[in-house]
Amino acid sequence: MKNSILQQVKQYKGLFIAAPILMIASGLLETMIPLMTTHIVDDGIQQNNISEVLRWGGFMLIFAVSALICALIGNVYSAKASSGLAANLRDALFVRVQKFSFANLDKYGVSSLVTRQTTDVTNIQTAAQTVLTQFFKTPVAVVYSLILTIQLNGKLSLVLMIGVVIIGVLLTLIIVKSIKMYRQVYVDYDKLNQRVQENVTGIRVVKSFAREKKECDGFDESAETVRRGFVKVERLLALNNPIMMLALEFCFVGIAWIGAQFISVGDMTTGDLTGFITYAFQIMSYMAMLVLSFVQLAASFASIRRVQEILNDEPTIKDPENPVSEMNDGAIAFEHVSFRYGEGNGKNVLEDVDLTIRSGEMVGIVGATGSSKTSLINLISRLYDVKEGKVIVGGHDVREYSADALTQNIAVVLQKNVLFSGTIRENLEWGKSNATEEDFAAAARLACADGFIAEKEAGLDSVIEQGGANLSGGQRQRLCLARALIKKPAILILDDALSALDTATESKIRTSLREDMPEMTKLIITQRVGSVQEADRILVLDKGRVSGFDTHENLLKTCAVYRELCAAAEGREAAS
Ligand SMILES: Nc1ncnc2c1ncn2[C@@H]1O[C@H](COP(=O)(O)OP(=O)(O)OP(=O)(O)O)[C@@H](O)[C@H]1O
Ligand SMILES: [Mg+2]
Repeated sequence: MKNSILQQVKQYKGLFIAAPILMIASGLLETMIPLMTTHIVDDGIQQNNISEVLRWGGFMLIFAVSALICALIGNVYSAKASSGLAANLRDALFVRVQKFSFANLDKYGVSSLVTRQTTDVTNIQTAAQTVLTQFFKTPVAVVYSLILTIQLNGKLSLVLMIGVVIIGVLLTLIIVKSIKMYRQVYVDYDKLNQRVQENVTGIRVVKSFAREKKECDGFDESAETVRRGFVKVERLLALNNPIMMLALEFCFVGIAWIGAQFISVGDMTTGDLTGFITYAFQIMSYMAMLVLSFVQLAASFASIRRVQEILNDEPTIKDPENPVSEMNDGAIAFEHVSFRYGEGNGKNVLEDVDLTIRSGEMVGIVGATGSSKTSLINLISRLYDVKEGKVIVGGHDVREYSADALTQNIAVVLQKNVLFSGTIRENLEWGKSNATEEDFAAAARLACADGFIAEKEAGLDSVIEQGGANLSGGQRQRLCLARALIKKPAILILDDALSALDTATESKIRTSLREDMPEMTKLIITQRVGSVQEADRILVLDKGRVSGFDTHENLLKTCAVYRELCAAAEGREAAS
């Protein structure tokens, strides 16, 4: 898999191998220590031999320090490896999302994409850290401890093993149950995240509708569900300790009782028994650690799956093998085009659209809200692909162009304008990175933005806040238009992009577009039917079908839908 999570581990391969090896070494070294206690007790204390005590004590110190150093380096390596993995994952996700088409983005939604790039990656990082430090070390240490206890006393180790198996089974049951519970908690957690995202992004709307109380109540409920879920899992996991303690007590009583008998008949030394009990302790504590790391790993499975899903998802729109990079002119043709959103067999939002637009023509596009005006123009700049038929621009199917060629030659000012934080100049440079002063001036003049830019103290270098919050709606629209015009596109599409302007300014812009950019094909979607009357032709859409495509005068005669739209517009004007 080219884009798997494992791919992102590659860069830190060395650390990912070295860390568990060091941790295993520290576990083995730690495990040897009780063996030395047996010598200290048997050969030193019981024989009253101080030099033996010191000798074995010295060994013990060396082993303990070595174990500590291994664990220390192992932990540092694990931290480096897991945070490196997280950084790579965030990068890979970000790059992938940038490549996504509109259809890909529709599928996930913004908040889910944000959660995947933040919370989910953090979960994976934590799990990676735990796996590297605990997952390999603890089983090896448990097995090695058991082998050493067999050497100390085979029969007694049997008692210990029975204890280990019983605890193992009980803990496995807990793990399995808690993994299931965790899965549910993470589903709820996701919903909570989504709520936060949606509300904080739309906080102004929430406030203007005085929905705060309702939203808070809804949030409380989600937060409470998540809390209950976590408490339930934690309660189950808390059972770990009492079970461990109980099993430990039983084991110790058994070991001490049987051990004492062995000592009395001379089959075992006191030192061996001390060592044995220490091992029993060590084994149990390792097992407890193993359980926790299991649970953490399981909790991250959902995150792994969600991140993997993004990494594996191919952008639905890609450049063809030998893309066309030049666009001859701004002619547009739709050949029996049908289109619907998403996969599957949903309802078509465009049905058998068949039309041609000459290069340089000014076309008004009108139709009731939801009549698929935006959907239609989205196909021209290939934000989505058609389901049936063909969209031909400048003599080629849009699917034959490189994405660059399309963005260079087709400028769209969307219904929802977005400006970015930075200066006005920087925002206009999105349209053309090497724009000259003349380019800026010409674009600003065409978009009627020169006036208010000049009024600003810093002119082109005035700062725009995020989303253009410090500009008026009309100023924002004019800057977006200037940003589109600066690249001198073959086709300009305005999707209700002049709606915030007064009719006089709007008409001035339309006139200068027509007179100064005669070569450029201009598609103007508008709710104000009156404002496109002088367009070369007007396209009337009705429920995803073309209901008329002609001049204003002809449409008045032939198209009932158009007459209705005009009548409604006149009614509005008369009322105001
Ligand atoms: N991203 C999307 N995913 C699914 N359905 C969509 C999406 N965008 C639009 N639609 C649906 O497609 C249909 C046409 O929508 P479209 O936005 O093209 O209408 P419109 O004519 O531009 O309306 P308006 O005048 O309100 O902007 C609507 O029924 C809408 O629900
Ligand atoms: Mg629209």
